[in-house]
Formats: sequence, structure tokens, C-alpha cells
Amino acid sequence: MLSCAASELIETDSGLSHVAVDPKSALNGARKFNPAQPWRVEDSLELYHVNAWGKGYFGINAAGHVVVRPDAQPGRDIDLYDVVEGLEARDLTTPVVVRFSDILAHRLKHLHDAFAQAIAENDYRNRYAAVFPIKVNQQRLVVEEVYRYGKEFGFGLEVGSKPELLAVMAMTENAPERLIICNGFKDDSYIEAVTLATKLGRTIIPVVENFDELGLILKHADRYQVRPRIGVRVKLFTEGSGRWRESAGEKSKFGLFITEILELFSMLKARGMLDCLQLVHCHPGSQLQDIRRVKDAINELAHVYAELKLMGAGLQYIDVGGGLGVDYDGSGTNYSSSMNYTLNEYASDVVYRVASVCNARDIPHPMIVSESGRAVAAYHSVLIFDALGSSALDKFRVTGDRAEDYGGEEELPQPVQDLFEAYRSVSERRLVE
Ligand SMILES: Cc1ncc(COP(=O)(O)O)c(C=O)c1O
Repeated sequence: MLSCAASELIETDSGLSHVAVDPKSALNGARKFNPAQPWRVEDSLELYHVNAWGKGYFGINAAGHVVVRPDAQPGRDIDLYDVVEGLEARDLTTPVVVRFSDILAHRLKHLHDAFAQAIAENDYRNRYAAVFPIKVNQQRLVVEEVYRYGKEFGFGLEVGSKPELLAVMAMTENAPERLIICNGFKDDSYIEAVTLATKLGRTIIPVVENFDELGLILKHADRYQVRPRIGVRVKLFTEGSGRWRESAGEKSKFGLFITEILELFSMLKARGMLDCLQLVHCHPGSQLQDIRRVKDAINELAHVYAELKLMGAGLQYIDVGGGLGVDYDGSGTNYSSSMNYTLNEYASDVVYRVASVCNARDIPHPMIVSESGRAVAAYHSVLIFDALGSSALDKFRVTGDRAEDYGGEEELPQPVQDLFEAYRSVSERRLVE
């Protein structure tokens, strides 16, 4: 999307006339492309829906340049055109990825504030922590920044493999209280590393995703004389949605069926280790575009939490996984590149669902954990590349006025007349029709 905006800018800056503007602009409802009118900044904002998908982080300034606003407020604008010129002066040429770490900080604060508000509104008697799944962006700088900015909110990290765990171990040396959630396929050496991390005092929870992992956790706990914290991933009945929808729902290869969870419960009970079962988790899919999926999944997970808690498990955490979407196209709909809810609505639904199930069963509210990845990282980096050219139908200028557009003598054939009619009457809302 930015690239579209950028190509638009390139035309403006190089003084080219607006003639080469994408003919799509002609379909832009209220203000149709008209060669007689100069192109305006508002036209670009409207054509590319910058305000809708930019969520305040992106805009266009009076000079027609794309700007980045790290705290989503106008005023502190970073002009991307200036940035590229500055880079060029240092012999750094496009394509280039520019990262705005202040946006990362802002996203984390936004996440925290949304849950804080939902917690206050629902009289929720526990707190919220995000754990950033480092697989979402494994660049060292990104992970370090998320870790640093998340400190004031008590946020943690999620790992999906032993190498990721080792990276996180190096970072959390002086912060044993920061939560580390371990997902992914866990072999013997991964579990051994988790056990050693527990022995070193980290707040680390391996999430059992298939039954064999429990045996390994118990084996290494015995061997190193460690009392482990254990989480369990629930195979939801609720189908997954969004991207990687197969990773949720009954047919998913991840997670335990309810019968397996009961078996896990019995094994821990027999060993006097029910206090070790501390977390229930689900991952309802990625880029969840429909809020109903979120509600259904959290509802189901909260009931599993409630049942296990009432049976005597030492549960303290409910981990609602990732999936919080990014409205890439800014339409606010349930299309795959959009989402029909806001971050505040997401937080409110999660907290409300967990609270109401717990209140109905009269059990303590668990700490809510989420593993939002893309919703934290997506906005903060921008790929800038050159537009190498453009193509347009400027050979056939169409103003929408038949007399002006068609100078011929003969009567226009009916299909062309129909096209004219469609052209004149089309609006953005009726585009599909
Ligand atoms: C277990 C788990 N948690 C969290 C995430 C991050 O999801 P998202 O980036 O949609 O928030 C993923 C990614 O698919 C995942 O598999």
C-alpha cells in the first residue's frame, strides 16, 4: 500500500503532471479523476485510504510526501522522502526497510492500555501481560526493543524452539519475573533447556502440545529436582479462522483433546503435582478477521480453565494465543486482509468472556496472557522501493462527458454507450455491483 502512495508521490515530486495517475482514480466516487483539476493531497489520502489503514501512524504532508507518526499523533511527523534523501546521501539506496522503534513502543502501550481499560470496566481482579512471539520477527534489534519497551508493563516473550529459548535466556538474565512461554514441538533437549531455565529461576512455562511432552517434562523435573510450571494447549472445538486456520480446531495437529487433558490431569494428581498445572492456552488462528471467532474461542478456553480449576488444578494463567489482526486494507470488514473489530473491542471481549465464566463459577480470575505478534510488529517497518515506471490509459482520456470524449461522426455503438453510462454512474459503494 505504501508503494502505491510512494509512486503517487514520485509523480508529484518530479513535477510530472497528474495525467499518468492510475486510472483507478477515475472510479473514486465523489471526486472522479479530472485532468482539468490539479491533484491534491486529499485525493491521495482518499484514493489510498491512508487514514483507514494507517491508524494514525501514516499520513501525507502538505508537500505530498508520506509521513510516519511514531506516536500516531500529528505533529511529530517523519517525512519519508527526507529519510530516503538522507539515506542516499550516505550511499544507501532503495530498496530499503526502515524501522520505527517508537511505533513498537506505541503498539505495546496501546495493547496495555486497551487491556487496562477492559480490566477496569469489567472489575477484573487480575492483570494482563503480552508475550511477544519472537518467530514473528526474529531480528535481534526488534526482539530487544520489544523486550525493553515491554518492561514497564511486565510483558514477556514467547518462544517456539530451543534456539529461540537460548536467545531469550541471554536476554532475561536479570529479569527472572518476565514471563517466558514455550510453544512449538518440544524434543528432549528443548525440555531439558526449559527445566534448566526453571532451575535458574526464570518464570518459564512449557505448553504441552502433544502428550509425549508431558513425559519429558516429568523426566527432567525428576532428574534436576525442579518443580516445573506446566501449561497445556487445548484443541478447541471452535474452528480456527484467518491465516493458518488449520492450527486451531478439532483437526489441528497442535494441542490436546479434552480426554487427553483429563489424562494429563490424572497423571499430575497421582504425583501430587496439580499445583504445577498453571496455564491453559489456545491459539485460535492468525489474522483473525471476525470478532466472533475470538469470542467463541475464548469462551471455550475459559470453560476449560474453570473446570480444571474447580477440579483442583493450580491454574493461574489463561493464555489466549495470537491472532489479533491488522487492518491492512483499512476497510474494517471481515475480509482476509482486514478485521471487523478494534484492539479495544478485542481486549474488552477477551476480558469480559473470561470474567463472566469465572464469575458464574465463583472462581478466581486468572492472569490473562496474549501472544499477539503481527499486531505489535506490523506497523513499525516500511519497505521503500523505487517505482520504475507506470502505465496508464492516458492515450484515451475519458472525462465522462460523451460529447467531449467522442469526437466521431458515427453513433456510438451500444456497448460503448453502456460503458459510458457505467462510468458516469459508478461509485465506490456500487463498485462490485
Ligand atoms: C502459538 C502461536 N502464538 C502466537 C502466534 C502469533 O500470532 P499473531 O501474529 O497472529 O498474533 C502464532 C503464529 O501463528 C502462534 O502459532
